Amino acid sequence: MNILTILGARPQFIKAAPVSRALRQHHNEKIVHTGQHYDANMSDIFFEELEIPKPDYHLGIGSASHGKQTGDMMTKIEEIVLEDRPDAILVYGDTNSTLAGALVGAKLHIPVLHIEAGLRSFNKKMPEEINRIMTDHVSALLFAPTETAINNLKDENITKGVSNVGDVMYDAVLYNRELAEKKSSILQDLSLEGEDFLLITVHRAENTDDREKMAAILSAFNQVDTLKVWPMHPRTKHKIEEYGFNLSDVKNLKIIEPVGYLDMIQLEVGAEKIVTDSGGVQKEAYFFETPCVTMREQTEWVETLEGEANILVGTDEEKIVQAINKTVSPQYKELFGNGQAAEKIVEELEKL
Ligand code: UD1
Ligand code: UDP
Repeated sequence: MNILTILGARPQFIKAAPVSRALRQHHNEKIVHTGQHYDANMSDIFFEELEIPKPDYHLGIGSASHGKQTGDMMTKIEEIVLEDRPDAILVYGDTNSTLAGALVGAKLHIPVLHIEAGLRSFNKKMPEEINRIMTDHVSALLFAPTETAINNLKDENITKGVSNVGDVMYDAVLYNRELAEKKSSILQDLSLEGEDFLLITVHRAENTDDREKMAAILSAFNQVDTLKVWPMHPRTKHKIEEYGFNLSDVKNLKIIEPVGYLDMIQLEVGAEKIVTDSGGVQKEAYFFETPCVTMREQTEWVETLEGEANILVGTDEEKIVQAINKTVSPQYKELFGNGQAAEKIVEELEKL
């Protein structure tokens, strides 16, 4: 089969690495990079480190409002699809790049394959929730990572083409964990070996775009003595600058540039706790059995909440501090498949 894969944002590069490897053993794949993420440490570094094949098309869309960004992507993806006539279009997750690829495929009657289908936060104010719902409803094959995702799809009367294949991010972690240990020197470089530290990530629009929420998050961090290491997403950096917040006012805080995946794995493994609003990072915390505090009101990864492996705190200052200071001893389970999600996806798509 000839598959056209649409990628654009950091988590999609990481998810694509194991899938491309499995797919290319028996099929032809061409990659479109929409350019949604474009800084070297948000994009190129992942292609190099994870040996993801170089994109066949680079659309260079960049940052813009939702309508402009998604619309510009659609115009260019449509041109490629009309020229290329792939047998299927493969999309990942819930970003604007996902939605653009899915809508183009559906309108041109090219089967859409959705990896990480069926996730729901039930919060339609999140751009990701709109992207997921729309993409799932126009997809021919829906690769769900968990039973919860399958049930969410059932509740929306989507049962055809649905399979639980496990989580491709778990495949990526299993493949790269040893490599990270060998190749990454971030713990030494930042003098973190044997040290207690918290790993922080924040980038959700619902947090970053709200001055009060960001103020509450920073104030909570200031009440925690432990060293906090924060690879800062460019969106968050821009917003903090716009709000005029002074990060040097927050005690024991180390801001670093976004890191590559291998460094990120080492930070996640080494951290005492992870404090995040990321989808992927919540799951990786679970894979590495590092307790997680999630600064969101809902999570799509509800399984991780069991036994307080992950504690949802929203952006309530007091709740953030309490959850960080709380001692938890969760039982971790194999909830996300067996690390063969990519192979299962390839098997399923051969049925198309
Ligand atoms: C996007 C996804 C989000 C995902 C996240 C992963 C949507 C609607 N959102 O959010 O679901 O969790 O990616 O990281 O698709 N920027 C740069 N350099 C870059 C990329 C972004 O400076 O390489 C800055 C720009 O100021 C830009 C802002 O970040 O306006 C937001 O970027 P955008 O791609 O629109 O959304 P993300 O917040 O990254
Ligand atoms: N990640 C990374 N470097 C960083 C921050 C995150 O490699 O500085 C990885 C992280 O390990 C995970 C993915 O990026 O695999 C998560 O992406 P992000 O948090 O941007 O988006 P989300 O998962 O919330 O959509």
